[in-house]
Amino acid sequence: MFWKKKQKKRQTMADRGERVDERLKHIAFIMDGNGRWARRRGMPREFGHSHGAATFKKIGRYCEKIGLQYMTVYAFSTENWKRPQKEVDTIMKIFDDYIEECFLEMEEDNVHFRFIGNLAIFPDDLQEKMAKIDRETAHKPFILNIAVNYGGREEITNACNELIREGKQVITEADISSHLYTLDCPPPDLIVRTGGEFRSSNFLLWQSAYSEYYFTDILWPDFSPLDVDDAIAAFYGRKRRYGGV
Ligand code: IPE
Ligand code: IPE
Ligand code: MG
Repeated sequence: MFWKKKQKKRQTMADRGERVDERLKHIAFIMDGNGRWARRRGMPREFGHSHGAATFKKIGRYCEKIGLQYMTVYAFSTENWKRPQKEVDTIMKIFDDYIEECFLEMEEDNVHFRFIGNLAIFPDDLQEKMAKIDRETAHKPFILNIAVNYGGREEITNACNELIREGKQVITEADISSHLYTLDCPPPDLIVRTGGEFRSSNFLLWQSAYSEYYFTDILWPDFSPLDVDDAIAAFYGRKRRYGGV
């Protein structure tokens, strides 16, 4: 008689009641691979974006549960406007729906929602909603930065221009850091990129100077809490030297 040995389902850190320690406060995700995920299913790219949005919510909840204090996600870059109008419109619709959901759920959530990027490009009412959510969740402990119309170069250039407007003649690293969209968030300890590409694509250029990178071929809509655990395990295996020995 043949039978398959029943495989024991791997438990997540959360299942085991484990939490991250002080080495890992801030995790960031370059959520890539939505389009390919859809194409592999013979579906339009937009289908991948809606599944990607569901993954984002799931991963956000998980990161909060295992004790991360900050999470930053790359949702839409300053370069993503180059995509076909239909795809851009779908992403913006998903974003709009997400904002509405945030309003409904923000009371119960432990999340301080922040939107980072050059937000001036968005319609006034959307900008107001983003500012309102940020304000009304400002007392919550888990900071979630959502990068939209975000570009690392734009962010640094914007910081410099703000400093010029303030009349600064000489600027320091601390001046630049404090004028970035991420404000007082510590830099990410770990940056995870899904989708198999090995590049930053203009994400957190300044803040990532000493971040640990973790790349995986998994496409974002398939990314799961167990994959977060794998990234965290890899991170704990690294030795961060910051230029020392
Ligand atoms: C990431 O997935 C989502 C955004 C950039 C908005 P992609 O849409 O880049 O998916 P691929 O890389 O084409 O598969
Ligand atoms: C990076 O993914 C941007 C986001 C995940 C929002 P892209 O798909 O835009 O990056 P490239 O084009 O492969 O560098
Ligand atoms: Mg991509």
